[in-house]
Amino acid sequence: MIGRVASGIYRWLDDRLEISKVVDFAYKNLTKPVPKHVNWLFSFGTVTLTFFTSQFLSGLLLMVYYEASAESAYDSVKFIMEKVRFGWLVRQIHSYGANFMIAFLFLHAIRVFFYGGYKKPREVTWLFGFALLAVTLGFGFTGYLLPWDQLSYWGTTVGTEIAGTTPVIGSYLLVLLRGGETVSEVTLTRFFAVHVIVLPWIFAGLVTGHLFLIRYKGISPLASTDLPEPTPEEIKKAGGKAFYPKHVLKEGSVVLLVLAFMLLMIVYTPLPLHEKADPFNTPVGVKPEWYFLSMYQALKYVPKLVGILGSGLVILALLLLPFWERSPERHPARRPVAVTLGILFVVANIALALLAKLSETEHTFLGTRYHFDTYGWPSVVADPVLPSATEADDAAKPEGDKSVDASSDKEAESSEENDTEETKETDESQQEKPGGGE
Ligand code: HEM
Repeated sequence: MIGRVASGIYRWLDDRLEISKVVDFAYKNLTKPVPKHVNWLFSFGTVTLTFFTSQFLSGLLLMVYYEASAESAYDSVKFIMEKVRFGWLVRQIHSYGANFMIAFLFLHAIRVFFYGGYKKPREVTWLFGFALLAVTLGFGFTGYLLPWDQLSYWGTTVGTEIAGTTPVIGSYLLVLLRGGETVSEVTLTRFFAVHVIVLPWIFAGLVTGHLFLIRYKGISPLASTDLPEPTPEEIKKAGGKAFYPKHVLKEGSVVLLVLAFMLLMIVYTPLPLHEKADPFNTPVGVKPEWYFLSMYQALKYVPKLVGILGSGLVILALLLLPFWERSPERHPARRPVAVTLGILFVVANIALALLAKLSETEHTFLGTRYHFDTYGWPSVVADPVLPSATEADDAAKPEGDKSVDASSDKEAESSEENDTEETKETDESQQEKPGGGE
């Protein structure tokens, strides 16, 4: 019965709008074969796209209750989390989804690099992709401020400060981003408008272009760029499988697995909402989101100007990669130098991000407590001195030395205050142990 009604409607529409031509065209395109070497790693683009769709839908739902003002932004998010039915789930899907989307975007770009997918004739596809990366990081940066909690407020302060160190335009950029000298309600409304109106439109345009080019050019072969691109018939002959249903099923299963993993994380390690933003109380150890950590850390080792110019050059080199890395080989096995450099780049970024995470914290490894300075270098924390011994030492010392000790005591106190949550957690767990803290 339903089938008959549906085909009736289809015929009715076809008589008037000739939709069968569009349907035939879509079907022909969807069943085009993909090359034999296309494996699970080629699902990352689709996973990213799925997360964008999920971000769009969960974002729409959040907007029903979210209020973009310094007075009520925090309370509205708290209300969503605590009072709105399934509000906690929608917010967690949105905040976790942002992290997953960016992670898979990086994985996708890395996959494209190692398989030489950016090479002739797919340079424009790479440029569209790179613009999508910038827009997605923009989503992350602007969205981070919206809950208006301590972490988001001070994280944005640090992030905009870094942008403010750009040579020549830095001070203008800072005021443009913040809407004033400091992060304020103007920044919040500005970020909100960019997050929910400007970026989604740009993203939609870019992703349409990116996907069109991928369907138009097909997935790149592994052969050299000097050889002509294989026709669909040749791909099929060489063992390629139809995009629909074979590859779609493969991608669909990866998408479902990743979504299931995200749901597990939401249930077992939900992302917290911290204290409400307080512009007069700077919390210690403020750091940007994980995807900006490697750059944030790299900037610590060199003078600011060198760091900013260096990062700008690296970003420019990556954007223009297809125009200067013009060797014809695509297969990773035939590009040992590019592959080695690529691996080094990824490892260096992960190492810098880890150093940033460790910096300005204390951790206990194998029973020894370490303090990690701002560069991430460890130093052993001396055992606390018993008060009676200090007093006895102090009494035996001349006046001048006492004041030195007093100031180092203050330093010790403030370094204790500087402890991060991890530090506190370690301390608490030690105290919980029978006989702990000795
Ligand atoms: C939200 C962002 C993005 C989405 C939704 C997306 C989606 C996709 C999809 C579905 C594919 C085909 C399957 C695959 O290779 O995974 C693809 C291919 C491609 N993407 Fe992306 N992508 C995004 C961002 C990027 C970025 C950041 C880059 C690089 C900077 C990039 C460069 C490319 C290139 C060059 C191809 C063609 C690869 C080939 O033919 O082998 N994309 N993208």
